[in-house]
Amino acid sequence: MVLTGIHHVGVAVTDLDESIELYKSALGAELVKRARNEKEGIEAAFIHTGTGEVELLSATRPDSPVGRFLAKRGPGLHHVAYGVTDIAQALADARAAGLELIDAEPRMGLHGSMIAFVHPKSLGGVLTEFVET
Ligand code: CO
Repeated sequence: MVLTGIHHVGVAVTDLDESIELYKSALGAELVKRARNEKEGIEAAFIHTGTGEVELLSATRPDSPVGRFLAKRGPGLHHVAYGVTDIAQALADARAAGLELIDAEPRMGLHGSMIAFVHPKSLGGVLTEFVET
């Protein structure tokens, strides 16, 4: 696979509006967009930081994956996302390398790009996402 860089870093937050304001006022960062996925129980805000983004993730219900993450670990770093040129190839290579995939097939992400997640236990405890760029 070919990594094109760190695409974004996912940060779990309890209050999305408050967190957007914090990133804007404390860091001068810019809100790119907000998106909500009821099925996954998440609402996200993408913060532009220059060359990469911070994806602020909040739970729309406590039993969603982000809701469970927040209950277990509290707010903080959630995942690292790498850009890849060919996500099907990246998944095939990750599988061949013995990584445990959360998504066996790429799916549409909130960015409007194809994404897939790798289980944190395969990569030193870091939930890892690939984003096709
Ligand atoms: Co992400």
